[in-house]
Amino acid sequence: MVEERGTSVAERPDLPDRVTIYEVGPRDGLQNEKAVVPVEAKAEFIRRLLAAGLPVVEATSFVHPRWVPQLADAGDLMTSLIEGELGEAARKLPVLVPNERGLDRALELGCEHIAIFGSATETFAQRNLNRSLDEQFAMFEPTVTRAREAGMDVRAYVSMCFGDPWEGAVPIDQVVRVGKRLHDLGASQLSLGDTIGVGTAGHVKHLLEAFNEAGLPNEALAVHFHDTYGQALANALSALQHGITTFDASAGGLGGCPYAKSASGNLATEDLVWMLRGLGVDTGVDLASLVATSTWMAGVLGRRSPSRVVTALTPTD
Ligand code: HMG
Ligand code: MG
Repeated sequence: MVEERGTSVAERPDLPDRVTIYEVGPRDGLQNEKAVVPVEAKAEFIRRLLAAGLPVVEATSFVHPRWVPQLADAGDLMTSLIEGELGEAARKLPVLVPNERGLDRALELGCEHIAIFGSATETFAQRNLNRSLDEQFAMFEPTVTRAREAGMDVRAYVSMCFGDPWEGAVPIDQVVRVGKRLHDLGASQLSLGDTIGVGTAGHVKHLLEAFNEAGLPNEALAVHFHDTYGQALANALSALQHGITTFDASAGGLGGCPYAKSASGNLATEDLVWMLRGLGVDTGVDLASLVATSTWMAGVLGRRSPSRVVTALTPTD
């Protein structure tokens, strides 16, 4: 670890004192890797992220193993975490679930927190879920109802909130309609996804305002930025200024979506932590441990992290 030279903190009383980082590296990051990471390395990654102070770590996906072979070991991973040093706490890690079959798999393992993932556009619903825009709700409705009856917490992602590689610009009212329907099914939090990273800061503000006007307060919203055009951090700042307090990010900037080829890595958790620390916003994350974890994972994957902060804080010789 190189010295963190020139670190400055300039507190901003107009911003939230504390935010929650929702870490998606083990899921959104590793789902997109060509190589399948061994289950023990995935478990170690998750344990290290939790030890670095990340309060929420999304572990894996109970999707069809043929659709995402990288996460076909979801059951083995959860079992390994539950039987390992995390014990019961591992059941609290969120897992992605698209349908009742995925829910059954999560219930069998005693998972307590699931995330469904809807699309704001017709084309991505077809490509990612093999369903039309309307059919996706028929798949989610019984999934969420049963999950809530079982006492699970449910998050809902909305993908393609800012633009879609096949359909282009996505109207804000279309995104709000889809998001509100997912929320009304019983999701406690909506994560607004810029799946292909085309959003810009003003668009973020307008989308959040539209959700507020539709009756969803900031506390029910999270933001999920990909960094394809280098806008993820600016977009996160825009959301922070709007009063959002949950931010998705991926350690080391891993990520993408196998069903949206133009998606690149997520906003790197380290870059987000660096910015928030400079603004005096508490995250509870130990940056040095996090950088060490991402550097270790880069070694497992055999390539360098794209995160600017990981690069800046990792000695090159
Ligand atoms: P389908 O082929 O339409 O499924 O896929 P089906 O309902 O017709 O079932 C066909 C067979 O699959 C059946 O088996 C089912 O039991 C089985 P059979 O009776 O023929 O033997 N099956 C399953 N097996 C295991 N686990 C399951 C499951 N479901 C069905 N869960 C499906 C529909 C939704 C399953 C499929 O399209 C799929 O798995 N999609 C997942 C795609 C994905 O994971 N994408 C990446 C995550 S989204 C993302 O990254 C974006 C995000 O980060 C936010 C952002 O950035 O915007 C969240
Ligand atoms: Mg994503």
